[in-house]
Order: sequence, then C-alpha cells, then structure tokens
Amino acid sequence: MSDGKGAKDLSQDRFGKYAASYVASPHHASGPDLWRLVELAGEHPSWKALDIATGGGHTALAIAPHVAHVVASDITEPMLEAARGFILGKGATNVDFALADAEALPFSDESFDLVTCRIAAHHFPEPARFCSEVLRVLRPMGLFLFQDQVTPEDGEAADWITGFEKRRDPSHQFALSGAEWLRLLGATGFSVETEDTFEKRIDLLKWVSDQEGTAEDLEELRDRLRHIPASARDWMRPTGIDTGKAEFSIHHVVISARKTGLGDMGAGC
Ligand SMILES: C[S@@+](CC[C@H](N)C(=O)[O-])C[C@H]1O[C@@H](n2cnc3c(N)ncnc32)[C@H](O)[C@@H]1O
Repeated sequence: MSDGKGAKDLSQDRFGKYAASYVASPHHASGPDLWRLVELAGEHPSWKALDIATGGGHTALAIAPHVAHVVASDITEPMLEAARGFILGKGATNVDFALADAEALPFSDESFDLVTCRIAAHHFPEPARFCSEVLRVLRPMGLFLFQDQVTPEDGEAADWITGFEKRRDPSHQFALSGAEWLRLLGATGFSVETEDTFEKRIDLLKWVSDQEGTAEDLEELRDRLRHIPASARDWMRPTGIDTGKAEFSIHHVVISARKTGLGDMGAGC
C-alpha cells in the first residue's frame, strides 16, 4: 500500500494551484471519451448522480441535463470552488458541490443511481477502496461510468510510463491497465457492460508548461523520450522529440459497470 495521506496531500497541493487551468483545459472540456460517457448515461429524469473528482466540473456539467440532480465532488477545495463557478456560470441549476475523498465518500449507502469518475483515478493511492466506495453509494443495479488513463499490460512499459508521468506531476500515483480495471471491478461486485478505449495525442511542450514546468523539466522529459524502451515506445508513439511539435500518446478506457453484488472484495474493503 502506498502512503495514502502523502498522495492526497500532493493532489490537493497540485490541483489547488492549477484549478483554473483545469477549467480551461480543452482536453478535459470535451472529447470522444466524454461524449461516450454521456451516451452511456442515457436519459433518466429521476436519477441522482455523483461525479467523483470533478476537477473543473466538465463531466458533472455534461451529465446534468440528462438526470434530476448531480453532486459534483472533489478532494481539493479550490478545485471544487472553480467547478462551482464554472458550472453555475453555465446556468446549471441541478448541481450541488461536496468536498469528498473518492476512497472515503461522505454519502449514505445506496444514495445514487449513477456514479461517474473521469481522468482522476490515477491519483488515487488505493483503487480497490475507491471501487468499494462507489459500490456502497450506488443503489442495487446502479450504473458506474468510469474513465481513466491506462497503461499497457507489459510491466516494464507500465513502470516506465508511470515514471515519465510522475516526473511532470508528482501527484500522479499509477495507472492500471484496462484488464486490471476489469478484474478489480468484477472482484468488487460490478458487472462490466461495455469497455471502449481512446488514444489521445499529447503536445509535450503544452503538457509541461500547463503545470509551470521549467526548461530543465522539458529537457529531461525529452531525454527520457529519446531513450524510451521499445515496449513503452509502441504504446506512447513519440514523434518530433527534438522539435517544437513533440507529441506522444496516452490511452484512456471508458467502462460502464452495473452494481450487481458484493464481489469477493466485499464492501468496505
Ligand atoms: C484531472 S482532474 C479531474 C477531471 C474531471 N473529472 C473532468 O472530467 O474534467 C483530477 C481531480 O482529481 C481530484 N482528486 C485527486 N485525488 C482525489 C481523491 N482521493 N478523492 C477525490 N478527488 C481527488 C483532484 O483534486 C482533481 O480535481
């Protein structure tokens, strides 16, 4: 188990500092992964939804027109305030805001019909605890729509990619592979219904400068890409490393899963 408190402090420091840039980020504001989540949610005028780790609030805002009510939650107070300003500024009237740790949700059992969590779980130190909490707050047969960055099955490649991510953002914990998420969700008590994957090209210079990385940070990340092991290269497909257009790929999974039981990890794991 990693140092959970340290990981959460790092997230709060990091996201507190860059809250405004997450609200403005096109990568968070839209994309085929977000539209797939909305499509999978469907139209449910009586549903209560919870968006975990809402960040700038883009997923909560996208879901709001399709349900009765959304609770947008996050562990970082300034981030939640930024989301509140953004969502209310867009005219949504059915969204409330709650400070909440994804691994210890301050909500009653079976209090939501839908839970969403997008581009966030790679910051959570204990994914099994997070999944158990989602299971607990969902009503029986409730829907969990999950999206996060994933790593390849190959352990060497996955470790290399985690190190690369952490070099830019120390609050990045680790990303699981798609297969690891499917196993974890099944063991927790979910039945997975759909799984989609999306590849996204990242502009290295923007990625570094968005978090106020220095010229030295950029050069070290470039150098890592120059010496990337073959297994990670096949996944990240870096191009233009020594130009102003350096790019690489990240991969996201979108999973829809239904609460069908307690699974072999039990609730409160
Ligand atoms: C990249 S942002 C989320 C983006 C957002 N979901 C969207 O769709 O645009 C990641 C968020 O995770 C939050 N976070 C990190 N660790 C958390 C935890 N343990 N519980 C809840 N939120 C957490 C951060 O505060 C940050 O706001």
